Amino acid sequence: MGKTKSSLAEIIRERRSIKSGYMDKEVTEETVLEILNDAIWAPNHGLREPWRFIFVPTKEKEDFVEGLVKTFSPDMQENRRNYFSQPAAFLIVVMEEDPRQKQWEENFGAVSSLIQNFQLLAWEQKLGVVWKTNPHIYDPKVRDLLNVKLGEKIVGFLHMGYFEKAPQVRPRTTAEEKWTVYRN
Ligand SMILES: Cc1cc2nc3c(=O)[nH]c(=O)nc-3n(C[C@H](O)[C@H](O)[C@H](O)COP(=O)(O)O)c2cc1C
Repeated sequence: MGKTKSSLAEIIRERRSIKSGYMDKEVTEETVLEILNDAIWAPNHGLREPWRFIFVPTKEKEDFVEGLVKTFSPDMQENRRNYFSQPAAFLIVVMEEDPRQKQWEENFGAVSSLIQNFQLLAWEQKLGVVWKTNPHIYDPKVRDLLNVKLGEKIVGFLHMGYFEKAPQVRPRTTAEEKWTVYRN
């Protein structure tokens, strides 16, 4: 008989990226900060805490989306307006870029760990999240709009919104199938 799963293991397995079907319910600053203040306990080498956050609350979303849409070519704007209007709020995660490769990679690993913490904690509250890395995160016009400085990287836009129905689970390959035991 298999061992009973801990609630942590269950949440890790059950969490899905929520890409659509967001409810029309406000995502408050208080909720996001509460989740973030747990998520920031992610491992980060040298305790550099190489992150900062830009929150777009539900009530600012329409204005923000209009600004964002203007960074796209005119033929894309209607499509992007529909796309960005779906989530109830956004959290943009910004990383400090270190010129040294080792530190850069450590920082990226730390920010990624923080984002996964955030996704798991949000899931627990039925707040859906998807980590988006669309090309606009590299666009200088988008960086300007968000006041992201040289030496900083937008690691992702987290699209957020409460959800009712989780998407279908897609199976994962077991670790055994990707497993090698080193033998001398
Ligand atoms: C670094 C990273 C970047 C991602 N970028 C996108 C993206 O740009 N668009 C998107 O729809 N999903 C994106 N995702 C979400 C993945 O598509 C999703 O995690 C994957 O399909 C597995 O689904 P699950 O999260 O529900 O298990 C990204 C995930 C990661 C970890």
